Amino acid sequence: MIKQIIDLDYVKNPFKEIGEDFALVTAGGKDGYNPMTVSWGSVGKLWNKNVIILFIRPERATWAYLEKNPKFTVSFFNGEYKENLTLAGRISGHDYKDKFSEIGLTPIYDVDADVYYAKEASYIFKCSKLYVGDIEEDGFIDKSLIEKFYGSHGGYHKVVVAQINSYFVNEE
Ligand SMILES: Cc1cc2nc3c(=O)[nH]c(=O)nc-3n(C[C@H](O)[C@H](O)[C@H](O)COP(=O)(O)O)c2cc1C
Repeated sequence: MIKQIIDLDYVKNPFKEIGEDFALVTAGGKDGYNPMTVSWGSVGKLWNKNVIILFIRPERATWAYLEKNPKFTVSFFNGEYKENLTLAGRISGHDYKDKFSEIGLTPIYDVDADVYYAKEASYIFKCSKLYVGDIEEDGFIDKSLIEKFYGSHGGYHKVVVAQINSYFVNEE
């Protein structure tokens, strides 16, 4: 059973819970949706709101859904389902129509927010976009990052700042 938690005391260690355990961003709604793995991101306060900040390259299939839809979810797995998440970070919705079944996870539809999340998650954020911007070459102080992470490595990330509207735990 998925239970909403009012107390916002979550993600005690984002370095581990995002960076090492990975998370699954699912964007889109009933007209189409797609999940992808992220391990770059942060949680905290901005504009007096509880926010999650994600960095998504524009070539991701998920980006098209993120760009179009005001809401999305982030599913966390507490270090479990690592193989599924690694696969979700290797294959693309550009190549697989039903990426959820390819990665062996189960999408659950939330009719109120018109979003999907993973049934297997240990906890889930439902998020609303507040701001979308671009990582820009001119902004780099440490120029070595450009060669290390861009060019042949992929496009400049989109920065997505989203409000964490509600927090759910899976009590199954
Ligand atoms: C562990 C891991 C973490 C990743 N983190 C990110 C990330 O934070 N941002 C990003 O744009 N891509 C990230 N990726 C790459 C995407 O998950 C990958 O390109 C995926 O295939 C995109 O799926 P899509 O095209 O269906 O959206 C990560 C991949 C892995 C394996």
